[in-house]
Amino acid sequence: MGATVCVTGASGYIASWLVKLLLRRGYTVRATVRDLGDSGKIEHLKTLQGADQRLHLIQASLTEEGSFDSAVRGCEYVFHLASPVLASSSASDPQRQLVEPAVNGTLNVLKSCAGAAPSVKRVILTASISSVIYTGKPSSPPDVPIDETWHSDPEFCASNGEFYPLSKTLAEQAAWKFSSENDIDLVTIHPGFVIGPVLQPYLTLTPKSMLKLITEGKPFFPTGIYRFVDVRDVATAHILAAENPEARGRYCVVSRVIHSSEALAIVKQTFPSLHLPPMSFGWWCYSSAGVS
Ligand SMILES: NC(=O)c1ccc[n+]([C@@H]2O[C@H](COP(=O)([O-])OP(=O)(O)OC[C@H]3O[C@@H](n4cnc5c(N)ncnc54)[C@H](OP(=O)(O)O)[C@@H]3O)[C@@H](O)[C@H]2O)c1
Repeated sequence: MGATVCVTGASGYIASWLVKLLLRRGYTVRATVRDLGDSGKIEHLKTLQGADQRLHLIQASLTEEGSFDSAVRGCEYVFHLASPVLASSSASDPQRQLVEPAVNGTLNVLKSCAGAAPSVKRVILTASISSVIYTGKPSSPPDVPIDETWHSDPEFCASNGEFYPLSKTLAEQAAWKFSSENDIDLVTIHPGFVIGPVLQPYLTLTPKSMLKLITEGKPFFPTGIYRFVDVRDVATAHILAAENPEARGRYCVVSRVIHSSEALAIVKQTFPSLHLPPMSFGWWCYSSAGVS
């Protein structure tokens, strides 16, 4: 606490909460955003408690080498969250839109950290549960829990058109390789499907798809299975991963695994006045492959 830290992609859904909690804990935060001129993406950060004294906004792009140099210089912890978050099916050019910015961006940030040694004590990378679960192996019995020993297989992701998981898997692999070659203390956080309050005045992919589930009854995943986790827990996990000297390796961050029909039942119970769409029969069928 009191130290200077860097958060990349600070305007994003999870990162905005991370910045808020870091400021609340007394940190000075260097927050990178893609475009300092885009007030719609930064005003909510400027109004956070403590922002007037301890928040510094810096423009940086994942696709520009050296872009993060000034942001990480002198920082104790670097939280790397910036990465394209896009449904695999909506990427017309997955290599350019997802894979390259995710992988090259992660390497750019790590190179800046290596150059800023020894001030950077630890890098916390926001990976994803999607770099864990797409193993391509025959599905295990439903009572076998998914854990941090699981690794997604890039070939399996690519051949099944799972380009977002591919981008996160390759970015994580590149991060571990670069960190071990350059003596960087890296911890990776693997959140499930992130839900909870939104700080910015617009919706990004996961809150938008929750709204779609509630208003149109359309689940995001074909199986209807969600690995939910609250955005505030995800932000807190990042801080614990930085502050706890014993933290190391990979951490899956998932709170409840439920079917979309169960999620809608909870919404209905919590907000009885909401008129929810009817649910089709198929959603009630659990896929044993997806529940772990
Ligand atoms: N939401 C989830 O359920 C979930 C689950 C697991 C892991 N994650 C990971 O958590 C991180 C944050 O996700 P999020 O849900 O908070 O998504 P988000 O709100 O879309 O945040 C992504 C951030 O990355 C920035 N970014 C994207 N491309 C960039 C580029 N080329 N240069 C600079 N910045 C760029 C975005 O900037 P702009 O706003 O300017 O585009 C945005 O600030 C990502 O690494 C994501 O893969 C998310």
